[in-house]
Amino acid sequence: MRVPLASTGLRDEDIEAAITVLQSGNLTMGKKVIEFEKLIANYLGVEHFVMMNSGSSANLAIFEAMMRPSKGEPLLRQGDGVLVPAIAWPTTIWPVVQLGLAPIFVDVERDTLALDLAAASTAIRNAKCPVRAIFPIHPLGRALNSNALTNFANENRLTYISDVCESLGSFENEKHAGSSGLAGSFSFYFSHHITTMEGGGVATNVLEFADDLRSIRSHGWSRDRSDVAEWTENVSGTDAKFLFLTTGYNIRPMEIQAAIGINQIRDIDSFVRKRRNIAYSVIKSIVGTSLSVVGVNSNELSFENSANSWMLIPIRVNGNNAPQRRKEILEFLETQGVETRPVLTGNFLSQPAMNRIDGRHQPASDFPIATEITETCFLVGAHHDLSEAQILHLCESLKLAVAIG
Ligand SMILES: Cc1ncc(COP(=O)(O)O)c(C=O)c1O
Repeated sequence: MRVPLASTGLRDEDIEAAITVLQSGNLTMGKKVIEFEKLIANYLGVEHFVMMNSGSSANLAIFEAMMRPSKGEPLLRQGDGVLVPAIAWPTTIWPVVQLGLAPIFVDVERDTLALDLAAASTAIRNAKCPVRAIFPIHPLGRALNSNALTNFANENRLTYISDVCESLGSFENEKHAGSSGLAGSFSFYFSHHITTMEGGGVATNVLEFADDLRSIRSHGWSRDRSDVAEWTENVSGTDAKFLFLTTGYNIRPMEIQAAIGINQIRDIDSFVRKRRNIAYSVIKSIVGTSLSVVGVNSNELSFENSANSWMLIPIRVNGNNAPQRRKEILEFLETQGVETRPVLTGNFLSQPAMNRIDGRHQPASDFPIATEITETCFLVGAHHDLSEAQILHLCESLKLAVAIG
């Protein structure tokens, strides 16, 4: 039996919704996108949600909007530093690099995998450029401490934005991850908490920022903005329908994606509940052994009030010789059909791609916790499509793996 990390997440009703869109002939961004944006903004408890074609595009658009707003002063200028976690997804980091900003890497916390704020203070002190923003990741379904981040950002005069691509449906202090700070980016790539096949977007409570994101996702266009009338009134000599207010891309979503998203977001609570139950089963199956679920205190095995939406389940190999035992455990799980993967990309500073950027970033060895996590932890699936038999097989295989490791 196989226990995959990912599943399409598409149900018959999602496929029917997609076919209806194809038959309607309304294919490019339109009413379905607007409807989906309202539903997800409402779910997250934010004022605005701007849908895009991926979570990576959402990250890119956030930085573009901060650097080249259509009105007022930019929040970031070329050469400014942005605090980012040492365990990251590539497209958390690449927009920072691509737009001429400096990624300032910060080690993560061993038990939450979150960007470590004590290490962030040191990074600000040691930075060779002004640090103006903090861009942590809410990792693997775990919401960050938004009050601590907001206070830290205020104390250090940083703009707080966050990458929530792995953590839709998680919350902290009764607030959804990504609903604090200037903006949060989300991904609806297949296998995430909801799917639009590919897809993503940005949540924000700031209307001007949402307006700029709408321009940026569509060539820099004035269309779709709340203040379009104000701009077009003052224009002479240019066709008001072809008015461009800032730099932009074409990173628009399609109606077919939004139609699937509309179906999916209605069922998010049941998807997240299922993921929590899977995590709970895994935790119970390995409690008291040399394996543990990262960040879970074995004394707190009640999941009723859990705020974690479990994108995947991070497991740590504890004790002596953990890196070697991890290797053996992964080989064994593979023979059982249980798919595993590293924690995001592991210590991102070790990735060959980092040699292709200007070389002023810190060496991988400066991030011992990220390295330790890379060497001793791994992920297994928590997808809400897993059957009871697959969940049982996952738990039994982990129990058997303990005997090896
Ligand atoms: C932390 C993080 N940021 C960004 C992304 C990119 O999202 P997408 O695949 O929708 O481009 C991912 C992908 O899973 C991610 O894990």
